[in-house]
Amino acid sequence: MIECSDCILVTGGAGFIGSNFVLDWLAAGLGPVVNLDKLTYAGNPANLTSIAQSAEYTFVQGDICDAELVTSLMQKYQPRAVIHFAAESHVDRSIAGPEAFLRTNINGTFTLLQAARAYYDALTKEGQGRFRFLHVSTDEVYGTLTPEAPAFHEETPYAPNSPYAASKASSDHLVRAWVHTYGLPAIITNCSNNYGPYQFPEKLIPLMIANALQGKSLPVYGDGQQVRDWLYVGDHASALRTVLERGRLGETYNVGGGNQRSNLEVVTTVCALLDELVPQSTFKPHLQLVKYVTDRPGHDRRYAIDARKLEGELGWRAQESFETGLRKTVEWYLGNAEWIENVTSGAYQQWMAQNYSGRGHKASEQRTTTEAGEGAR
Ligand code: NAD
Ligand code: TYD
Repeated sequence: MIECSDCILVTGGAGFIGSNFVLDWLAAGLGPVVNLDKLTYAGNPANLTSIAQSAEYTFVQGDICDAELVTSLMQKYQPRAVIHFAAESHVDRSIAGPEAFLRTNINGTFTLLQAARAYYDALTKEGQGRFRFLHVSTDEVYGTLTPEAPAFHEETPYAPNSPYAASKASSDHLVRAWVHTYGLPAIITNCSNNYGPYQFPEKLIPLMIANALQGKSLPVYGDGQQVRDWLYVGDHASALRTVLERGRLGETYNVGGGNQRSNLEVVTTVCALLDELVPQSTFKPHLQLVKYVTDRPGHDRRYAIDARKLEGELGWRAQESFETGLRKTVEWYLGNAEWIENVTSGAYQQWMAQNYSGRGHKASEQRTTTEAGEGAR
């Protein structure tokens, strides 16, 4: 019988949400962290430079599909929890090449579950009482909403539409089955779109900021009227801490900020912030850089999260509004030009060419941009 230590094992902690979670966790003095990350294109140890030398932090470069490695890490560090962020996470990449998504998101989660199960079974009763497996997932598993439909709640049937969403839905089902069949003390969270510091500039908000700063076009898919429900990443991290501490075993909690915005509204707000914060820019007004491009295949029209279970049962509240969170985010990118430069070299350029060169320019909708821009100013 072994005893849990105070440490937690985080997977994917060098990515966007994982690194924000790890930084917040250590800043709050909540105990040691072991971070297992493969360092794919999306993993960036520079996000964690400020804690790299901390005695509370251990980094292990490795793959969650490596059963021997994940088993040995659990045995060596005896974590009181596994917080599972590691995933392939970008919908457009999942359309271009789904294999990596199936491998990491499904097989990787399976591998972790098996290792966690064996580890859990060998714990003392007290250790078993403390142990948690927290699976970090997405609202995209629920599919798409019509404009008037109620927001996704925990009982909404799964209807994933992209290879990314299908792979995350599969992983959620595996976690559920490991709870039900093997009694693994796991909890699932399904969160809406995050934004904030350290987000890789392939996702909407950092892409728009990075492109606008260089006077490059701002590619809006389709008519730009798709709606997402945005949550500041620090609020996601606080929701995960809350669920870890007080969440009921085997439950699912939806996480969201109640900030539904169309993509065009998001881009318009980013541009307005850049106009204000970079008044000397020669690219002002930045909204003129918007270019409508061919839509994403199978593009989900609307996501919205009903987070009342998390708020009512566990008392969690988002701290940032979309306006305060977005201002913080734009300011962070303005203060971290070197970070953007480092992550947008090499392979990033290949991805940009692959994803955007074939999309063309939808001239008819360019007029709407100008109108939207005038309305926004
Ligand atoms: P990200 O792409 O920024 O980071 C993923 C991290 O996982 C990277 O550090 C990468 O190196 C690592 N990784 C990938 N494959 C791995 C493997 N096989 N083994 C070990 N490490 C591996 O992703 P993110 O945006 O930080 O998302 C983190 C998690 O949160 C994901 O599970 C995602 O599905 C979920 N999520 C994201 C959002 C969002 O808006 N970004 C919203 C809800 C849920
Ligand atoms: P994204 O950040 O990729 O997140 P997700 O697809 O997981 O919601 O995209 C957010 C929205 O922005 C989505 O509706 C697609 C749209 N989008 C664009 O219009 N242009 C872009 O260049 C990108 C990357 C996304």
